[in-house]
Amino acid sequence: MCGIFGYIGKRKALSIIFKGLKKLEYRGYDSAGIAVLLDHKIHIKKSVGNIDALADKFNNTKDNSIISKATLGIGHTRWATHGNVTVNNAHPHVDYKKNFSIVHNGAIDNYNELKHDMQQNEYKFYSQTDSEVIVNLINQYYNGDFFYSVQQTLLHINGSYAIGVLCKQDNNKIICARKDSPLIIGIGNEENFLASDISALLPYTNKMIFLENGDIAELYVNNVILKKLNGQQKTLNICDISNNINNISSNKKKYKHFMLKEIYEQQYTIKQTYEKLLDTHDSILQICYNIKKIYILACGTAYYAGLVSKFWFEQFTNIPTEVNIASEFIYSNAIINQNTLIIVISQSGETADTLSALRFIKRKKCTSIAVCNTFKSNISLEATYVMYTYCGLEIGVASTKAFTGQLIALFIFALNLGLRRKQLTDIQHKEYLKELLQIADKVKIILGNTINIKKIARIFARKKSVLYLGRYINYPIALEGALKLKEIAYIHAEGCATGEIKHGTLALIDRTIPVIVIATNGITYKKTLLNIEEIKARNGFVIALQNETNNVLIKRIGFTIYVPETIELLSPILNVVPLQLIAYYTATFLKHNVDQPRNLAKSVTVE
Ligand code: M6R
Repeated sequence: MCGIFGYIGKRKALSIIFKGLKKLEYRGYDSAGIAVLLDHKIHIKKSVGNIDALADKFNNTKDNSIISKATLGIGHTRWATHGNVTVNNAHPHVDYKKNFSIVHNGAIDNYNELKHDMQQNEYKFYSQTDSEVIVNLINQYYNGDFFYSVQQTLLHINGSYAIGVLCKQDNNKIICARKDSPLIIGIGNEENFLASDISALLPYTNKMIFLENGDIAELYVNNVILKKLNGQQKTLNICDISNNINNISSNKKKYKHFMLKEIYEQQYTIKQTYEKLLDTHDSILQICYNIKKIYILACGTAYYAGLVSKFWFEQFTNIPTEVNIASEFIYSNAIINQNTLIIVISQSGETADTLSALRFIKRKKCTSIAVCNTFKSNISLEATYVMYTYCGLEIGVASTKAFTGQLIALFIFALNLGLRRKQLTDIQHKEYLKELLQIADKVKIILGNTINIKKIARIFARKKSVLYLGRYINYPIALEGALKLKEIAYIHAEGCATGEIKHGTLALIDRTIPVIVIATNGITYKKTLLNIEEIKARNGFVIALQNETNNVLIKRIGFTIYVPETIELLSPILNVVPLQLIAYYTATFLKHNVDQPRNLAKSVTVE
């Protein structure tokens, strides 16, 4: 939530900051702003709306030509937490004396108390944000030493932050710091950058410093000084990240939206992920050998990946597995000990609910594994082990390729653990892998035929509600299909276990409400056919996902979407793809901003 970017160098800062913010826009897009420092004066422009709206504002201002000369500045793209979406609440913020300017990603817990105290001392506030308190506190501690004033401020605030700060008096540096919100420094040639993620830095440099919690840094044109919050200097650990990024680019290419590009990329990201993860690291298998219980913790789509994988862990390893919504787990009385394995799943590696669940269990001294798509993110750093999914940056707010990447990682891990624990034979292990290795090509087949999918999406675009049904390992896929439709098409959708609807939801069925039923082959097939009959008997409009070998359904239902056949255990990875496409096309027919759905943001860094 929220993206921050900063530049100091010899080039004109404004256009570089604009480009950086454009890359970070997926993190929040309700308002944006830029501050530059020129001749000991801070110039700020902010606007409601996305980065394009901000650019229009700049283009229409008189001082544009002056501001564009600046060679250092900071920018922000916002997802509102404290205070609604207004220009006043947009960042950068300044203190009431206009000495400092700040961009902030995070949430300050004790801002009300601090604000109250400062208001007793003539301080004035013009926004409802917590961030304005930080910048005023910096001003309050200022004694001529910029670093000292930021350091003191950070020692007095509680909560999470990634900040970039400008000081009017000290126009040769930017100070930045982080705790629990991501911040990366990009090292250039006679220029340095700061950004919330790698993608915004990659156009300029591969040399990056991943700030750790409690780090505070001074960025100069030719130098970076890194310290701990207590002032102790740290050596710069500069990573060349060329080896850690994969060839999945963060440009839209020929696609209209990132989401569509990411759906189509699955034919490669699935392959890339299994190629990298086929051999689970021996130390991970070793430490999991004596595990007696697995808890999987995640949110949203990642949680559904966990629900699917429960069946894999239980079948392949014989370890009882429980899947929990991360934000709820912290209230549970789960018994966790050294024989418990915790798996956290997160695309971004930043999700506050998941991070907080991970921290909650870390106190109990069990082993944790993060399945994560973001290199050096909080969650990947704090878990005992990390398994990266190799999907490349996911920009569309609706998660697609990260989901199938998570499924691949979890399937392989469960399989390898099952072999190690001798619950699977070599032959069984090989058979499953053989099926897995065909999945990417089967995804490609689904992507090659979207005629029916588009027809269905046209119908959905006129509907108020849709039901998604699935049984057993495809029940989580019904949940995921419904989430996708809600998230980007803003149509009410409900995912149900197919066998459960006769216990209540069946009352909703009539001609007007489409029902998508996952009816691919497997142990649930016959029962699912029966359930379809029950819906038809009540004039329900059924759309079925099925395999071509079972075309018995074709004549008797509204629409059929064919998916290639695989073993039932792997069918979720294929079945989810048409559901992603249905949500995508429904949203585009409704002319929604698919990549930036209303009210949402890509990384949810507040609890
Ligand atoms: O980054 P994470 O995987 O931790 O994110 C978890 C959820 O916020 C995320 O999956 C969300 O549900 C997606 N926007 C759904 O498409």
